[in-house]
Amino acid sequence: MKQKKIEVKALAKSFGSNAVLKQVDLEVFAGEVVVILGPSGSGKTTLLRSLNFLEQPDSGTLEICGHRVEVVAGRKLSRGDNQQITKLRQKTAMVFQSFNLFPHLTALENVIEGLVSVKKVPRKEAIDKGMALLEQVGLGEKAESYPARLSGGQKQRVAIARALSMDPQVIFFDEPTSALDPELRDEVLSVMRNLANAGMTMLVVTHEIKFAREAADRVIFMEGGVVIKDSPSELFFSESSGERIQQFLRRH
Ligand SMILES: Nc1ncnc2c1ncn2[C@@H]1O[C@H](COP(=O)(O)OP(=O)(O)OP(=O)(O)O)[C@@H](O)[C@H]1O
Ligand SMILES: [Mg+2]
Repeated sequence: MKQKKIEVKALAKSFGSNAVLKQVDLEVFAGEVVVILGPSGSGKTTLLRSLNFLEQPDSGTLEICGHRVEVVAGRKLSRGDNQQITKLRQKTAMVFQSFNLFPHLTALENVIEGLVSVKKVPRKEAIDKGMALLEQVGLGEKAESYPARLSGGQKQRVAIARALSMDPQVIFFDEPTSALDPELRDEVLSVMRNLANAGMTMLVVTHEIKFAREAADRVIFMEGGVVIKDSPSELFFSESSGERIQQFLRRH
């Protein structure tokens, strides 16, 4: 049995009176690529952000990379909970639609920033690792370029290299190609495919149905804050997934 990297039970989150996540359950095993699909506003981003407490859930139990936090409505997180959150954040990384690179740092400096400032890795060692990661995403030659001189696809690949620099056990992607022109999407998706093939555990919110078909082990479909389908990729994309899924797929 493969190791469980994520186990979420009865996760709930509201913004005011808007119940955005309603009792969401989620499991992700080591090496799995799980794609989350669903219409706009269905809670996909809120779910991802809740997993590393960028968004504070209202209630639910989360176990991420071996660190467990039980959130009870109306009860403050304990010091122990906050320690678990710090630890689970160190084992996960997030890639956003908007890249979020530091504009005043070169590609290489962006990649090694966390290594040097958070992990206190000696600069020389960090540079070696950063260069290797930039090579891995096909950007060895852009190490000294500032983000303003990079295309969207290149910026997103730098962001992926930066995510990898911290040796995460799981990477969360939130629509990593949505801000990119269509012709730049493939270079990012191909880096993601390579990561998937190398065994990285990935949870990916995307509208790229082709990527989901090719790379996902499992697809989760959310609507109205509820997981309405969670099935192996082959099944999800077969007729048997039902009319709602077929309708969604026809539109994308
Ligand atoms: N910080 C916030 N404050 C208030 N409401 C929010 C906040 N973040 C999200 N919401 C609301 O929560 C709901 C779900 O948003 P979320 O961003 O999770 O959807 P999504 O599935 O990621 O959509 P999209 O495909 O458009 O990115 C929406 O109704 C949104 O308006
Ligand atoms: Mg979103």
